[in-house]
Amino acid sequence: MKKRSTADIRQTFLDFFQQKRHTLVASSTLVPPHDPSLLFTNAGMNQFKEFFLGLAKSPYGCAVTVQRCLRAGGKHNDLEQVGHTARHHTFFEMLGNFSFGDYFKREAISFAWELLTSDRWFGLPKEQLWITVYDSDEESYAIWADDIGVPTARIIRIGDNQGAPYASDNFWQMGETGPCGPCTEIFYDHGADIAGGPPGSLTADGDRFVEIWNLVFMQFNRQQAGTLQPLPTPCVDTGLGLERLAAVLQGVCSNYDTDIFQALQREIAAVIQIQDQQQPAVRIIADHLRASAFLMADGVTPSNEGRGYVLRRIIRRAIRYGQKLGAPAPFFYQLLDPLITIMGDVAVEVAQQRTVIAQRLKSEEQQFTQTLQHASALLAEQLALLTGNTFSGEAAFELYDTYGLPLDLTIEICREHNVVVDQVGFDQAMAAQRQRAKGSSQFTVDHQPIIQVEPPSLFCGYEALEIRSEVVGLWCQGERVERIHAGETAIVFLKQTPFYATAGGQIGDHGQLTAPDKRFEVRDTQRYGVAIGHSGCLLSGQLSIGDIIDAQVDSVKRQATALNHSATHLLHAALRQLLGDQVMQKGSLVTAEYLRLDFSGSEPLCLEQRVQVEQLVNDQIRQNHLIQTETMSLAEAKAQGALAFFEEKYGDQVRLLTMGNFSKELCGGTHARRTGDIGLFHLLSESGVAAGVRRIEALTGATALQQWQQQQQHLLQLSALVKARSGQQLVNKVQALLHNQQQLSKRVEQLQENLALQSINQLINSANIIKDVNIIVSLIKNSEVKTLKVIVDELKQRLGTAIILLATVVKGRVHFIAGVTPNLTPRITATELMDEVVLRVSGKGGGRPELAQGAGSDVSAVATALAAATAWVTTQL
Ligand code: SER
Repeated sequence: MKKRSTADIRQTFLDFFQQKRHTLVASSTLVPPHDPSLLFTNAGMNQFKEFFLGLAKSPYGCAVTVQRCLRAGGKHNDLEQVGHTARHHTFFEMLGNFSFGDYFKREAISFAWELLTSDRWFGLPKEQLWITVYDSDEESYAIWADDIGVPTARIIRIGDNQGAPYASDNFWQMGETGPCGPCTEIFYDHGADIAGGPPGSLTADGDRFVEIWNLVFMQFNRQQAGTLQPLPTPCVDTGLGLERLAAVLQGVCSNYDTDIFQALQREIAAVIQIQDQQQPAVRIIADHLRASAFLMADGVTPSNEGRGYVLRRIIRRAIRYGQKLGAPAPFFYQLLDPLITIMGDVAVEVAQQRTVIAQRLKSEEQQFTQTLQHASALLAEQLALLTGNTFSGEAAFELYDTYGLPLDLTIEICREHNVVVDQVGFDQAMAAQRQRAKGSSQFTVDHQPIIQVEPPSLFCGYEALEIRSEVVGLWCQGERVERIHAGETAIVFLKQTPFYATAGGQIGDHGQLTAPDKRFEVRDTQRYGVAIGHSGCLLSGQLSIGDIIDAQVDSVKRQATALNHSATHLLHAALRQLLGDQVMQKGSLVTAEYLRLDFSGSEPLCLEQRVQVEQLVNDQIRQNHLIQTETMSLAEAKAQGALAFFEEKYGDQVRLLTMGNFSKELCGGTHARRTGDIGLFHLLSESGVAAGVRRIEALTGATALQQWQQQQQHLLQLSALVKARSGQQLVNKVQALLHNQQQLSKRVEQLQENLALQSINQLINSANIIKDVNIIVSLIKNSEVKTLKVIVDELKQRLGTAIILLATVVKGRVHFIAGVTPNLTPRITATELMDEVVLRVSGKGGGRPELAQGAGSDVSAVATALAAATAWVTTQL
């Protein structure tokens, strides 16, 4: 067996299956596209589920992927185990091969065996591999025993060992419903010196026998009632954990001892300045660093709900472990560059966004440190007053809700004081609050069953905005129901619908579903697999499956959105014409209010380029092209020079949208009829959003006109104020005013200085002379800090032997200048004097022995601070 790097293993896996004619498919993002109900991508098969269910046809017979996955939050949650076992992660990479009706058990098993054991490939010793099969899966058993020749002593049958029919380690299901089937798993035996028994034994949880590869034979679609309906074609879904395989092939038994983790842990130990890089806390930081960086690269930002909250918990958990190890704050963001280097090619998206990710991590840590200080102090106070050893769930909830202290941290801090947190009470307080907020978390399950049972919806919204249709599905609070009542929020599925579901940057339609005695207000439309769900609230009546309703899209909103969408295509084409074909769309948002286009580019547009972009788009609007759509094969569309975005998945047939000779793009969105409908395109802003990504925001149609009129109003008001008769005169006059104002400010400064200098004589007269030293301590009103410096210098000159401390209040802060003549600095320095004074006004200071400067926020303490300074100076002489 050859020792291989993780990068080599990843590539070898892809090479092997590509040689076996599998199509290489890119990893989907950690935020599952087109699936608002799935928390995170947690298995390689997620992106293919429509193919498994036969709801869509796969363009390839079999595929191979290296899928980035996250298991934290939702149904599959490994967060708490991370760092404490040899093989749990939040973020990990899953190697997988998939067959969509192409091959089945025999080939899947032979491929896996060949890759793992052949000397041409991974060359693992066969006698260290153990197999499990589903109890009744005779076919797989026979393949292993007879075709492959695994001794039956190492093939273990596992039945329904989890207490219900098909509830088994060897029967894999995506969720409560959906694709499922028996699986056969391959285990690696790390050897007798590691604790643990073979699969199926009482000690199977130990680290000796580790499952490395799961081959699932998708054969059924599990229905809500628990019955299994055969799938149209049996499929294969396999998952091989890259980190576990790396451990095996590198001869170590913990994933955290593999090349990638060891390198990461070394960097972490260096940044935290500790010796022991093997301790659990360092492993946790390594795991969480990977999860945080990849989540952020896939567009998740830390927040207080949904995916953003899971990310925030992961980041905060890592930071807290770092702080426990004495990490200098902020430390976490410093690990990003080493991570990018160590992860190599798979981290390209992280590398592209490194500046933004680092910045966010840094500010998240700064914010969390403040929160922690405040909340931990509160918690400490409460713990000190606690009688007994249970901390109330309500108090824990308040710390979480009001002060941002995550529950897991409260639990950990309490555990350090031998106190347990009443988690049931916490959940109750959380539920009560949700009830109050009338919204429950979107992500109570990570495999929302809606997608698995609703049939395809027919979309007819290109042609019609209003149709009569039938209700075929109703979902209320995550459950499929027969009927909903007035006041309930729900998701409604129709046989056919004119409502456009969020896709390609365009937001979902709003509108209503009505019948004589019922009205459902549609506030959003989303795709759930191949079905279109209308989310909203039933305002009156009852709505039941089978009801016939009139579905009406809000046409005003739709038209405004359509104008923005068409203008986005024109803008994209204009940018490419102006800046070159290397410009690519990186993302877009099209709403009824405005449009946003992110594109590749590192330089800001200059004023002239902004004007040119606006002109180019408006020229095309005036040319009033017919906006044409045509359905064709992807190859045909590409041959016609269509722009396609390859992070999008396209089926066999694509929709090509053309506007004159100017723009050709694949697009499923809804558009204006002619470019002239857009009316006017007005560029609002251009800015940078990430390294190498620029963003343009713009308005169209009536909104653009309104904006233009408003600006016009402002110009007229300004002109009236400065009595300008033309635009040019307005600019000249404002310039003159600004110049004038600058001159006046300078003059005021001079006058203030003169006034201050006049006060010098008074200050000299007021000097306190102690042991031949002149001591001047005074608050100077209406003076700038600069002037104080001039006065201090002048006083030092004139007096020869003096200690001076002057204060002034500017914009709500008190500023000090301290000066000490050189002959006195061996005895007393200006910096010492400054230290004495600033601590009394919650401030900071610094400088040289002869001159120091400082400032603080507690203005009310100036007099006390000056008095204390005088007293201190006296004691020093
Ligand atoms: N879906 C299976 C798993 O996640 C195999 O890929 O284990």
